Amino acid sequence: MKDLFSVKGKVILITGASRGIGRFLAEGFRDLGAEVHGTGSKPESVEWMKSAGIVGHAADMRDPLAIGQVIQSVHAKTARIDVLINNAGIAGNTPAGGMKEEEISKIIETNYTGLFRSCQAYYKVQRKSGGNIINFASVLGMIGTPLASVYSGTKGAVISLTKALAIEWVNNGFRVNAICPGLIETDMTSMITDRPAIKEKVQGGIPMGRMGLPIDLMGGVVFLASDSSSYMTGQTIVIDGGMTAQ
Ligand SMILES: NC(=O)c1ccc[n+]([C@@H]2O[C@H](COP(=O)([O-])OP(=O)(O)OC[C@H]3O[C@@H](n4cnc5c(N)ncnc54)[C@H](OP(=O)(O)O)[C@@H]3O)[C@@H](O)[C@H]2O)c1
Repeated sequence: MKDLFSVKGKVILITGASRGIGRFLAEGFRDLGAEVHGTGSKPESVEWMKSAGIVGHAADMRDPLAIGQVIQSVHAKTARIDVLINNAGIAGNTPAGGMKEEEISKIIETNYTGLFRSCQAYYKVQRKSGGNIINFASVLGMIGTPLASVYSGTKGAVISLTKALAIEWVNNGFRVNAICPGLIETDMTSMITDRPAIKEKVQGGIPMGRMGLPIDLMGGVVFLASDSSSYMTGQTIVIDGGMTAQ
């Protein structure tokens, strides 16, 4: 039997590959033999990719045109983008009652509207040959927690959007699935990891007793990116150390 989980030679575009989970995935897929393209919000965010064997592109997810232009230009060079991983995202840490208009729109534009535009642009370039989209949602799109209201809303919306696009584009040969990470140690969760007492308390609430690391997500993402998940669409894989099983 061939290697079911092989991603060798696949062209993979990862948004938000400059830091955290996206960076880990970019380096991981490069090591597995994929041709990896990554984005960040600014040119300096993607500067490191040049020397790392990853093709970097600047595209702010809030810009109505930028991600579409990157997708078109990558496709023009490679003739195909086998997998689109919509990972770019931002969180909030503000009480719902005090959230200002600017913060509300920034989170929605980055996590939801930008992700939708990315899916749409990808559909346009791949509509004849089909494609594979992996969207990053969050367990906070499934369960409630304080100080994450708009963020949680965008992540719940990503789970719903994933199902809707999976059905709408199934006859065009597209698969659309989502990953729901639990709490993963990155810049996004530094307000927890920088404070040992808080981290200990948070970890006490996770059945596996620890926060996750980007590597904990890699197997699930490789599964979705590879042909091993070829009969799967519209689904969400939860990788959270048991958080949502309680
Ligand atoms: N960490 C967690 O516990 C956790 C849990 C559940 C879900 N997630 C989700 O996983 C994904 C990655 O999170 P992370 O923890 O790796 O976050 P991170 O370390 O803060 O990295 C975020 C990435 O997104 C990019 N990004 C942010 N705003 C952007 C914008 N407007 N335009 C383009 N790129 C932008 C950043 O690029 P620049 O630096 O260039 O702006 C960076 O590469 C997010 O969707 C997040 O919601 C994370």
